[in-house]
Amino acid sequence: MRTVRKTLHIRYLLPAAVVVAVGVGGLLTSLSAGASTRSRTPSGANAIAAPTPPIRYVGTFTPAQVHEGQVLFEANCSSCHGTQAEGSALAPDLQGLGPATVDFWVSTGRMPLADASVQATRKPARFDNQQATAISAYVASLAPTAPGFPSGIPYVDTKASSLSMGNRLFVLNCAACHTITGAGDALADGAYAPSLHVATSTQVAEAVRTGPGNMPVFGPGTLSNAQVADIVAYVTGPIQHPNDRGGIGLGGIGPVAEGFVALLIGVGGIMLIAFWLGERA
Ligand code: HEC
Ligand code: HEC
Repeated sequence: MRTVRKTLHIRYLLPAAVVVAVGVGGLLTSLSAGASTRSRTPSGANAIAAPTPPIRYVGTFTPAQVHEGQVLFEANCSSCHGTQAEGSALAPDLQGLGPATVDFWVSTGRMPLADASVQATRKPARFDNQQATAISAYVASLAPTAPGFPSGIPYVDTKASSLSMGNRLFVLNCAACHTITGAGDALADGAYAPSLHVATSTQVAEAVRTGPGNMPVFGPGTLSNAQVADIVAYVTGPIQHPNDRGGIGLGGIGPVAEGFVALLIGVGGIMLIAFWLGERA
């Protein structure tokens, strides 16, 4: 009787220890993940203390910027778009598209175009931010910005933004093409919606407001500046740094940790049940 008790004891000990250890570990990691998630979320106090607008559109440029942009445009763009950006058989008219459109296409590396036979793709930008702004300034100096295009390059302040609202707006307006994870997907007629994992906050706002290629324009009548800032916060936050998706980040180590914990709890639990059943038989 005594020896039976003892082996029973040892049989239970191992799985029980595994389950307890995993439980404590899981609790600790989820607590720390919860704490770090909270510190990353903008607080309500911030929202009240910050009177700055969610998006600032900068559309006035210095003569020096316009001049620098003209030199760059003539060397890199005018062979296709014409010296006055009036367009040609090779490339569309850029007059009136506004500085945000030009900044988007140049800063994402889509322009200058490498291969005219396929959709322009994101590639390492040939110009830095200052040069992209200068080129935008030059094109904007040629004609007033047409109605419906943003008047300047958008700079987004997400301090007062809501990630949960951003998530909801993203699911409603963007996920159909870019997928729920922002990984991108093929569209009809050989076009595709690219991954959103590398765009900057300015580029996200530019894409939303100018609708590049096959993407629709989301004007101020559809999405307010605050809503665009919410979407930008969601894209540059959880979409681009998806470790905490699913609520509990398990310390932010991602799916490996989740799989590990699931395995231990699952296997540990099954072991316990098996031992219990075995003992009863
Ligand atoms: C090899 C020819 C070529 C060169 C060089 C080139 N582009 Fe383009 N560009 C195109 C074509 C073709 C399109 C249309 C592509 C598309 O819609 O996918 C385009 C589209 C654009 C658009 C978007 C127009 C719209 O209606 O939305 C902008 C803005 C633009 N180019 C700016 C520039 C700038 C600025 C440069 C120089 C840095 C440049 N491009 C150099 C051929 C060129
Ligand atoms: C109808 C499909 C469609 C919808 C809806 C859509 N997009 Fe797009 N998006 C595209 C396509 C297509 C492109 C690529 C355009 C090109 O390069 O010619 C694009 C490009 C972009 C880019 C540029 C990515 C990069 O790094 O170059 C961003 C950012 C973006 N979209 C954000 C959004 C956001 C945010 C929403 C929701 C408010 C949205 N899109 C809704 C189709 C879509």
